[in-house]
Amino acid sequence: MPKKKEPLIRVLLSKEEIEKRVALLGQEISKKYFNLEEPLILVGILKGSVIFLSDLCRAISLPVELEFMGVSSYGDETESSGVVQITQDLTRPIKGRHVLLVEDIVDTGLTAKYLLKHFRTCEPASVAMCSLLEKPGKSNGEILIDFLGFSIPDDFVVGYGLDFAGIYRNLPYVGIVETST
Ligand code: IMP
Repeated sequence: MPKKKEPLIRVLLSKEEIEKRVALLGQEISKKYFNLEEPLILVGILKGSVIFLSDLCRAISLPVELEFMGVSSYGDETESSGVVQITQDLTRPIKGRHVLLVEDIVDTGLTAKYLLKHFRTCEPASVAMCSLLEKPGKSNGEILIDFLGFSIPDDFVVGYGLDFAGIYRNLPYVGIVETST
């Protein structure tokens, strides 16, 4: 049987670059929320943010609680479907609490926009947004990212939590998928 063509993955952000940036983001977040009376709630968006969130929460020197939300917006395609659906909700109320939404990537911004709107209806004390990656231009500046790791070109990327058709999430770097010739 002929072997299936494997896509090539070109490193865009190395493991070391990501480690340094995540450490700085942790410091920024710790500084911003240093005087909270209750732990900051980090809400990771499944599944893409899991690797980033697990490193980020350990770079934050404050008490935090972890929550997760499941959202489906892409399927196996590399283009946004434009439809955002909550597949798993928070397990506890966030009313009166400070919440930081943690995303892997803001592409069109549709997911972030939908989630920020959803959270605001739950009356938290504040909601802010942290994303490892952003593709500038796609969201028309509509999404304010309070804590951003990297701005990247408009290419489809995988690794460090991001997938293509469910795989590559465990790569320790972020890379661009290139089709081999
Ligand atoms: P948005 O709603 O278009 O901003 O897309 C958000 C979601 O789409 C992200 O949380 C990712 O799960 C997925 N996504 C967007 N761009 C990429 C990419 O380049 N690689 C992998 N997943 C992506």
